[in-house]
Amino acid sequence: MQVMTCIEDLRQAARRKVPRAFFDYAEGGSYADQTLRANRADLERIKLRQRILADVANRSTKTTILGEPVSLPLALAPIGLCGMQHGDGEILACRAAHAAGIPFTLSTMSICSIEDVAAAVDKPFWFQLYVMKDRGFVRSLIERAAAAQCSALVLTLDLQVLGQRRRDIKNGMTVPPELRIKNIVDIATKPAWALSVLRGKRKTFGNIAGHIPGMENVNSLSTWISGQFDPAMSWKDLEWIAGLWPRKLILKGIVDVEDARIAAKTGAAAIVVSNHGGRQLDGAPSSIAMLPPIVEAVGSEIEIMFDGGIRSGQDVARALALGARSCMIGRAYVYGLGAGGQAGVTRAIEIIRNELDVTMALTGVSSIAEIDRHVVVG
Ligand SMILES: Cc1cc2nc3c(=O)[nH]c(=O)nc-3n(C[C@H](O)[C@H](O)[C@H](O)COP(=O)(O)O)c2cc1C
Repeated sequence: MQVMTCIEDLRQAARRKVPRAFFDYAEGGSYADQTLRANRADLERIKLRQRILADVANRSTKTTILGEPVSLPLALAPIGLCGMQHGDGEILACRAAHAAGIPFTLSTMSICSIEDVAAAVDKPFWFQLYVMKDRGFVRSLIERAAAAQCSALVLTLDLQVLGQRRRDIKNGMTVPPELRIKNIVDIATKPAWALSVLRGKRKTFGNIAGHIPGMENVNSLSTWISGQFDPAMSWKDLEWIAGLWPRKLILKGIVDVEDARIAAKTGAAAIVVSNHGGRQLDGAPSSIAMLPPIVEAVGSEIEIMFDGGIRSGQDVARALALGARSCMIGRAYVYGLGAGGQAGVTRAIEIIRNELDVTMALTGVSSIAEIDRHVVVG
């Protein structure tokens, strides 16, 4: 890998290496991208408070997430089709996260399956669940995650219907890639990507293919998936899931104070204040705009994680200052994966860690617990 000074460098490298349809899939938001842009713009508006002479010689980014020690307040968010950014992408990202001492979350929509990842890593990871109409299949996914010793179940609640992703429609984004002339020409210019994906364990949805009778064929699989998101899901289903899952439960996709209040009473271990990286309700507020009122309403009852727009350690500091206990990153590590596989994800985490550490020094704090409202201006 070339010299990578920031997440944007990784993004530029990923853009060169990953076929357009998959790069755009990661990059984009829904509809007109208003919420996607708001996630970044609102974070950038928060100004950090520069302090001096605070004796910051002994700093540490260590903390805990759900009671488990971590080297910095960060986890890798669930990303569908990670294995299409780089062959075996889920395994490589999980190894990088574990080596860095932070959690990795495997998406329901991953290319490598729960069992593939479990066999390739030596520590438990988190599993993200989408609730499908086929509740028997949902139950089997929960049982498979439990059998694979996943330490937390991240239940995503903001995708009962799918927001329109205009880039994906225009690019004909499918798994595996649809063989349009345009796609073939594009892939031919990305030989390293093609080789890594060809050599990878799987080329389709690993958690689903082969687990549903009659769904071995890729076309019928895609049709099945798109018809499976369940608009009828309600808080009652959450009780059912909590009853099936033996370990920690995290509720992801909450950006409303009323929803946060209900979520805090469910017995879940944490919520993730998240608008799915601006990929669902376009026109929804940025996640950072909704963090303070949610912290105010339920911060004393439940652990609050945050995602949406984090591209630097400064952004992590901003979210912690506004009350998050930890953050998740999505695109920031996906760019690393596309740019350089496991080494790229390792670099993405290192970049954020170093930026957070220097930000702590320059805002005059030595520990994660000290990052609060005092480190931002106003
Ligand atoms: C390419 C891509 C795929 C995603 N797939 C999933 C998924 O399968 N499950 C899920 O809960 N969230 C998914 N998300 C949302 C992320 O988990 C996370 O909430 C979001 O990426 C955070 O915003 P950021 O990318 O600006 O960091 C996806 C996001 C992206 C960018």
